[in-house]
Amino acid sequence: MQTLQAVLDEIVAEMSAQADRGEVATYIPQLGKIDPGKFGIAVVLNDGSSAVAGDAEEPFSVQSISKVFTLALALGRVGDSLWNRVGREPSGTPFNSIVQLEREEGIPRNPFINAGAIVVSDILLAGHQPREAIGEILSFVRTVADDDTIVIDADVANSERVTGYRNFALANYLKGFGNLHHAPEMTLGVYFHHCAIAMSCLQLANAGRFLASAGMVPSTGHTVVSSERARRVNALMLTCGHYDGSGEFAFRVGIPGKSGVGGGILAIVPGVASIAVWSPGLNARGNSMLGSIALEQLTRRMNWSIFSSRSA
Ligand code: DON
Repeated sequence: MQTLQAVLDEIVAEMSAQADRGEVATYIPQLGKIDPGKFGIAVVLNDGSSAVAGDAEEPFSVQSISKVFTLALALGRVGDSLWNRVGREPSGTPFNSIVQLEREEGIPRNPFINAGAIVVSDILLAGHQPREAIGEILSFVRTVADDDTIVIDADVANSERVTGYRNFALANYLKGFGNLHHAPEMTLGVYFHHCAIAMSCLQLANAGRFLASAGMVPSTGHTVVSSERARRVNALMLTCGHYDGSGEFAFRVGIPGKSGVGGGILAIVPGVASIAVWSPGLNARGNSMLGSIALEQLTRRMNWSIFSSRSA
């Protein structure tokens, strides 16, 4: 069998030959400036070893991938009462859709669509100033990545705020249904800033290790969430992590994954590895086009799909 490094090098070579790389998101103007030719991939195994290839050490905007960390943090703060305000079902709608909110009376389908993540931000804001809540989220990400150099890109956060009409609409709608406890601009301040966290593939794969290791950060030995909670976050990533493309991702890649419009994907092979991939061009559903293809190649070659039959 090929080594993991050889598989990653082969994937990078294949991806650099791809002519159709999808479209870089431009609705957040700052993201529209990113070179669509970038491609990076990093895998951190549970035994502590890692392999990287391509632009794996260049920071990018993690965007919606940050929703995995805010969910884990908010569950730690309020426990299962979070589920009184956010559902756990796939939406089958785009990440910024408002249609279900009216019919379902202000309860977002899941914590990964924008409406659900805005409620999670609202939970994290309770008892804090926005600056403190943002600081806590960044500190949690640094803890799970075991890396204090991770920062928020303030230009991206600002770029998103000035063009964030849809998110303001969602927050106002949530407020109208009584499912937002703070002023929309306060909660969105938290939301925009966590979406603007910048990480490289290697940093992001490190940050995801606790989900592959039953809630423990292997490099420090600290348990940050219970194993049951890690398992449930993985389940939500599988069913909801790619919005209306979640079924297709499960079908092709077969592991929990969370995408972001910056072109990153965090993917977890429970008990085995945490993987991050970055290619800025998106498919029609707002998920990284080459990132998804690369993960499909990787899980196939390593036999990592959670749906593969394994001998006992
Ligand atoms: O709220 C937004 O639109 C962005 N900050 C995040 C959206 C996102 O990453 C969707 N993922 N593919």
